[in-house]
Amino acid sequence: MQETLKDMPAHEFKKAGQMVIDWIAAYRDEIESYAVLPQVEPGWLYESFSKKPPENAGSMEQIFEKFVNVIMPGVTHWNHPKFLAYFSISSSGPAVLAELLTAALNVNGMLWKTCPALTELEKITLDWLRQMIGMPESFWGIVYDTASTSTFHAIAAARQEISPQNIREKGMYGGKRLILYTSDQAHSSVEKAAIALGLGLENVRKIKTDDKYRLRADLLRENIRRDRKNGQLPFCVVATVGTTSTTSIDPIPDIAAICREENLWLHVDAAYGGSAAIVPEYQNVLEGCEEADSLVMNPHKWLFVPIDFSAFYTRKPAILKEAFSLIPEYLRTLEDHRVENLMDYGMQLGRRFRALKLWFVLQYFGRQGIINRIRNAIEMAQDLANKIDQHPDFEKMAPTPFSTICFRAHPHGLNDTEKLNRLNKELLQTINEKGEYFISHTRLNEEYVIRIAVGNIQTDQHHLNHLWNNLQKTLSKLY
Ligand SMILES: Cc1ncc(COP(=O)(O)O)c(C=O)c1O
Repeated sequence: MQETLKDMPAHEFKKAGQMVIDWIAAYRDEIESYAVLPQVEPGWLYESFSKKPPENAGSMEQIFEKFVNVIMPGVTHWNHPKFLAYFSISSSGPAVLAELLTAALNVNGMLWKTCPALTELEKITLDWLRQMIGMPESFWGIVYDTASTSTFHAIAAARQEISPQNIREKGMYGGKRLILYTSDQAHSSVEKAAIALGLGLENVRKIKTDDKYRLRADLLRENIRRDRKNGQLPFCVVATVGTTSTTSIDPIPDIAAICREENLWLHVDAAYGGSAAIVPEYQNVLEGCEEADSLVMNPHKWLFVPIDFSAFYTRKPAILKEAFSLIPEYLRTLEDHRVENLMDYGMQLGRRFRALKLWFVLQYFGRQGIINRIRNAIEMAQDLANKIDQHPDFEKMAPTPFSTICFRAHPHGLNDTEKLNRLNKELLQTINEKGEYFISHTRLNEEYVIRIAVGNIQTDQHHLNHLWNNLQKTLSKLY
């Protein structure tokens, strides 16, 4: 690199940029030549680099060479078509290019004035997405980094709405205990929000679920009544469309009715399941959500947008603003009375231009292209679920409402839970150890369950057929 006090010169940027883009194109094209899971031991990267920061300038060729040869071997390939663990989270070409532009522009959308295009594109894209998932016009949207952050803001807004002793000013001090309800299958982000907001884990009621892992509305009602009787203050319910373990769908219409009667804020976590509602025949998965006070869905899970991108909607943006707006003098602008300043609606001040990548994705694939891809993932998963159902030595452990299959090996005559758990653990480890596939597990009622989450943009039928053959062959070797 030339020794100047300025940034990288344009000609060098162009040359290095070409090298990087060429590499990315080849990486995307040849992704199947990589093992999904890196074959490295903990601490391996610490040993590979100097403990001291680089003293002198380096060339892009040298830097890139280290990226390829030292860092890349420790990368887990989330874009790999055989990455079937967790929720898909694959990226797409248009979104990768948009991320490059986002970094190049490096705008901060804390205020409308600090980047009008960011604020307005965020509104436009979230409104397109709202229409695509069939939610009402009254849903106002904002982008946060993750669903965990979205749920945190939902619960903060719910607390603000009820605010028994003006918590914003006086803090969580004295007064009745605020009680939050969710299910025993809800994502841990709900409890984390309770920790961060000072509600306390003791005040989170994890309502039991039914035999299909759906929150039991009758128990929800019972709990609310009991808490009120005990002088506590129920204020919010977090229900889920697409729970993390089994992708079960809570009975939202029933829960919404309870929330209406009891005057509780209803937040729906549709981080994963929300994308399915883009497919017309799956739009009913969000039935009842139009009554929710807020809802989150994550384009970074199943909408081909690279992490991070969480879409948060609420019918009550004024309450969210009431909870979070705090404007120092130096952030006041002449336009304030005419615009929405996104910093007013959350914890963060600075804001990346995330909407650009969603805008690229929506335009590049179009609604139809997205419908076709999500529908295809669901169909492939349902096909595999049927094969599992029909096999005498495997069984499904939960329904498959979307594209995630929960199952286990259950050879004829083997009925001891501990032995079954051990066998399935070994089956999963054997598949993952080879590095070719990455699948995950969960526990349901003490039973070890294997999970396959389909949804990666590059996964096709032959990958799933191959995995299914692999599972059967591995089982026959293990048992
Ligand atoms: C249902 C559900 N909600 C929330 C989350 C948290 O997502 P994030 O990583 O965006 O915070 C997950 C993660 O998988 C999830 O499955």
